Amino acid sequence: ARRIIIDTDPGQDDAVAILLALASPDELEVLGITAVAGNVPLELTARNARIVCELAGRPDLPVFAGCEAPLERRLITAEHVHGKTGLDGPELPEPTMHLQDKHAVDFLIETLRDEPEGTVTLCPLGPLTNIATAFQRAPDVVGRVAEIVLMGGAYFEVGNITPAAEFNIHVDPEAADIVFRSGVPLTVMPLDVTHKALVTKPRNDAFRRLGTPVGEAVARMTDFFERFDREKYGSLGAPLHDPCVTAWLLNPDLFTGRHINVEIETTSQLTLGMTVADWWGVTDRAPNATFMGDLDSDGFFSLLTERLARL
Ligand code: BDR
Ligand code: CA
Repeated sequence: ARRIIIDTDPGQDDAVAILLALASPDELEVLGITAVAGNVPLELTARNARIVCELAGRPDLPVFAGCEAPLERRLITAEHVHGKTGLDGPELPEPTMHLQDKHAVDFLIETLRDEPEGTVTLCPLGPLTNIATAFQRAPDVVGRVAEIVLMGGAYFEVGNITPAAEFNIHVDPEAADIVFRSGVPLTVMPLDVTHKALVTKPRNDAFRRLGTPVGEAVARMTDFFERFDREKYGSLGAPLHDPCVTAWLLNPDLFTGRHINVEIETTSQLTLGMTVADWWGVTDRAPNATFMGDLDSDGFFSLLTERLARL
């Protein structure tokens, strides 16, 4: 199994991404979950990560709290999308498993140092603050990362938190810049693919029909999460952004993309956090990321539903 660390700010879609990973132990060994501030403040993301572990029957999984604010900026949150708790929708019990004492950044650094070089994949599903802090504090670990598969950015779909930028990158553009310049192989799931992973009514019904606590919780989470995109954009359903990361790890053939140069805008007020993606190869800047552009959405949902049924 591929060994991964999930760095996350749950978030209903983060929750589904985690559930999909925990439902797939043959392919993915989750070494730990590191929480970061993003959709909601750190205290809530660290809580929500534990709620999801318990929902999946994995209270043994270590969950670490990381950075509570972006590297150089004030935190921007997204309660308008995810609700007050970040995980609004289902009625899930407060977690009883405890949060690890260790800081998430220390866990990242120590794990990358202790495990054989090139064997740990990082899966960031929120702002890149924890990962960038680890890279800044311990430059020796950068070359030890196998690869980074992250949700963030946009090209044709442009932005969701500003006209030009996607939320995860916009919230901590300096952190994103560090990660995109790190030299670690990057696979990026931008809005261009995640806006194809829409939970339509029949797909939501399929979760509910699983007849399990996980199926019911995912149906309710996506019902809640859908509200925003439907009202705002007339979308056909909730976009499952973060589960695209897990789905790619399980079946990369569901996606197509290009290996291109992607740089992060860190200075302009107007386009802060924009992922400037050289999709058409109009510069000679070296490729640093595989930027996805398309998704087999029926394949994605059958994989997801089939795996969730295992929990
Ligand atoms: C990203 O922002 C968050 O709201 C979601 O969890 C996802 O990671 C989408 O822009
Ligand atoms: Ca997220």
